[in-house]
Amino acid sequence: MSDFTALVTQLYPQHIEYMQNLTKEALARENLDGLVIHSGQGKRMFLDDNHYPFHVNPQFKAWCPVTDNPNCWLVVNGVDKPKLIFYRPDDFWHKVPPEPSAFWTEHFDIVMLAQANAVETHLPLDKAGYAYIGEYFEVAKALGFEHVNPEGALHYLHYHRAYKTDYELVCMREANRIAVKAHHAAKEAFFAGKSEFDINLAYLAAARQGDNQVPYNNIIALNEHAAILHYTVLETDAPSEHRTFLIDAGASVHGYAADITRTYTTDTGEFAAIVKGVDELTITLANQLTPNTSYVDIHEQAHAGVAQILHDAGIVNLPAHEIVAKGITKTFFPHGIGHMLGLQVHDVAGHVNDDYGTPNPAPAEHPFLRCTRNIEARHVYTIEPGVYFIDSLLAKLQSTDNAIYINWDKIAELSPFGGVRVEDNIIVHPTHIENMSRDAGLNS
Ligand code: GLY
Ligand code: MN
Ligand code: MN
Repeated sequence: MSDFTALVTQLYPQHIEYMQNLTKEALARENLDGLVIHSGQGKRMFLDDNHYPFHVNPQFKAWCPVTDNPNCWLVVNGVDKPKLIFYRPDDFWHKVPPEPSAFWTEHFDIVMLAQANAVETHLPLDKAGYAYIGEYFEVAKALGFEHVNPEGALHYLHYHRAYKTDYELVCMREANRIAVKAHHAAKEAFFAGKSEFDINLAYLAAARQGDNQVPYNNIIALNEHAAILHYTVLETDAPSEHRTFLIDAGASVHGYAADITRTYTTDTGEFAAIVKGVDELTITLANQLTPNTSYVDIHEQAHAGVAQILHDAGIVNLPAHEIVAKGITKTFFPHGIGHMLGLQVHDVAGHVNDDYGTPNPAPAEHPFLRCTRNIEARHVYTIEPGVYFIDSLLAKLQSTDNAIYINWDKIAELSPFGGVRVEDNIIVHPTHIENMSRDAGLNS
C-alpha cells in the first residue's frame, strides 16, 4: 500500500463523519429527512450518438471518490450509513466499472444498479421528506421529488466545504505532487524548443492524466499568447523563437484539484526581472494568508506589489502608491488574486458572509475577484498575481490621462513576451501557511 493510500484509508472515516454532521444540520435547516444525490447523466451531443465528457456532480464526489460513473446515487440523512447506488450496466459496448472495493467502500451500503431507469426501487418510497440534489430536474420530477436543490441546504453545505478535512488536504497535496511532476516535464519540453501541442502532451504524459481527467483545460502559452488570460489553443507548430512559456495546469486526485501556474523565459534581462518579481510577490502574498483577515486585503496588497514591479521595471514613471491610486495596475493585472480551491477549481461559496448564503459580492472596483471570504484555518486558496501586456487594455490606457506616465517604448519591447503569472496552492493553518506547490518541489 502506498503512503498516500495508507493516509486516505486512515483519514477517510473522519471525512465521512464531517459530511454526516454537515448533512444533519443542512437537513434540520430545511426540515427534511434526507438527501438523494445524483452523480449525473451522460450528455449526448446534438443529433449525434457521441457523448460529452462526463463531469460528476460536485455534491456527489464530496462523499466518495467516484468521479467517472453517471447514473449513480447517494441516499444520506446524516445518521444512517450512507447508501450508494452504483451503476453497473449490462453493456458489451463500453467498459463496465467493477464493483467498487477500495479504502472508502466499507463506509457505504452499496447496491448495484443494472439499468439507469430502474433506480426507483432503491430510493426512499416516500419522497416527501427527501430532496434531490443534482442537475436533472426532469428526472427528479419523474421520480416524485418535490424538493430539488433546496437553497438553504446548499448554502450550508457549500459554505462549510471551504473547511477541508484532513482527508481532503491529503488528496490536494497529492494533486499538487502530480501536477508539479508534470510541470517539470513541461518546462523541459519548452527549453527543448517544443510546440504548445507537444508541451501539453509532455505534461499529460508525466501526470498520467488525460485531457478530460485534469481539472481544467491546460493553458500552455508561448510568447505573446501568455497575454491571453484563458488561452487554450494548442498550436502544433513550434514558434521560431521561444521567449516565454506560461503554463497554468493542474491535476485531479479523488475529485480534488491542483491549479498551478509558472512562467519561464529565455530572456535574461528586463522581462526575466519581472518574472522574478511576480514569483517573489506570490510567495509574499501567500505568507499573508492569516486567519481572521480578509481575502480582499490580499487582493489589494497584490495591486501594491504589481505597482512596485511596474515602477522597478521602469514601465510606469510614478511611485508605486500613485500607480495604484490612479488605477493603472488594473491594466497590467486585470484578474483577481485567486480563489478557493477544492472539489472545484473555482470552489463554491467565495462570495458569501455566512452559511445562510448572505451575499458578500466582489467590491465594485475589483469585479473579477472570486472570493471575499474571511480567511480561516482549513481554507485552501490559490495565490496567482500576474503582469501582462494585453493589447486591448493597453489601447484603452493610451486613451486616458494616465498615458503620460507610461513608458510606451518599454511596453513595445516587453509585449512580445506576453505576460507573467505565478500561481501556488496554499493551505491556511492556525499559525502558519503551507505552500503545497512549493513543498512538492516547484520553485521558480
Ligand atoms: N486555472 C484557472 C485559474 O487559475 O483560476
Ligand atoms: Mn490556474
Ligand atoms: Mn487559479
